[in-house]
Amino acid sequence: RGKRAFIAGVADDQGFGWAIAKALASAGAEILVGTWVPALNIFESSLRRGKFDESRKLANGSMFDIAKVYPLDAVFDTPEDVPEDIKNNKRYAGSSKWTVQEVAESVKNDFGSIDILVHSLANGPEVTKPLLETSRKGYLAAISASSYSYVSLLKYFAPIMNPGSSSLSLTYLASERIIPGYGGGMSSAKAALESDTRVLAFEVGRKHGIRVNTISAGPLRSRAAKAIGFIDKMIEYSTANAPLTKELDSGDVGNAAAFLSSPLASAITGSVVYVDNGLNAMGLAV
Ligand code: NAI
Repeated sequence: RGKRAFIAGVADDQGFGWAIAKALASAGAEILVGTWVPALNIFESSLRRGKFDESRKLANGSMFDIAKVYPLDAVFDTPEDVPEDIKNNKRYAGSSKWTVQEVAESVKNDFGSIDILVHSLANGPEVTKPLLETSRKGYLAAISASSYSYVSLLKYFAPIMNPGSSSLSLTYLASERIIPGYGGGMSSAKAALESDTRVLAFEVGRKHGIRVNTISAGPLRSRAAKAIGFIDKMIEYSTANAPLTKELDSGDVGNAAAFLSSPLASAITGSVVYVDNGLNAMGLAV
């Protein structure tokens, strides 16, 4: 039987989530995705209208399919956690069962189990503000959407993950080096995500035999990155200063994710794996 993957954080064909879905599909996996509730309608209609057909093409000429798109808001663990204003929000009221617990339950009912879990989502409402000017609310929101969301996903999905399964998230160098402009507590959220990668690797490794890694990716012009506002500068900085001067392709991260999700990586867990053209290794820009 082929492997089945659930990828949380796909709402268009521009980000890392899509590239990971494509690389896993290319390696023969069945693809399920979790899409942020407010982005669900446009993503599904774009899919239906063929807007992503060009990027659905695999190297062998066939097009990969997404077996099912699940609405998801990874900021909420159970229905009891959803406040009234969200429940009654027009963009949420049209969908149901989108808390983490309910999505895991639905995947279990629909497919039984998965082999690969990918967390490719982040949100920091105050990301454009320096840390010193970030509110407590904004900081905690960044941690909730970008870090705890992963703890929660793994908590609810681990019981339906087959032995030997693999789990992945996406992180960024700003967790360990100063990247002015990556604010709002997002640098803190990535530091938490990387630390949690180690602790969770131990906990779900011992309990379920699941591996947990995170890919520290170089800059990509995704929807989320464009919202931060300095992505062109980051790409320029990387091509000028990294050991490899090519621009990062989302497929580079997709391929690394496919490797880490495969038995080829069966002894790799608790790791931060850099897929950034080597930029992290530089100490002095030349
Ligand atoms: P993206 O915009 O393609 O992906 C982010 C996704 O998160 C979107 O689909 C958005 O709808 C979803 N999302 C936001 N809040 C959510 C919530 N509460 N529940 C469910 N989904 C939610 O952008 P990108 O850049 O591909 O981001 C994927 C991951 O890669 C993120 O963790 C990001 O921090 C990381 N990353 C991105 C880099 C870049 O330069 N683009 C560099 C290094 C890491």
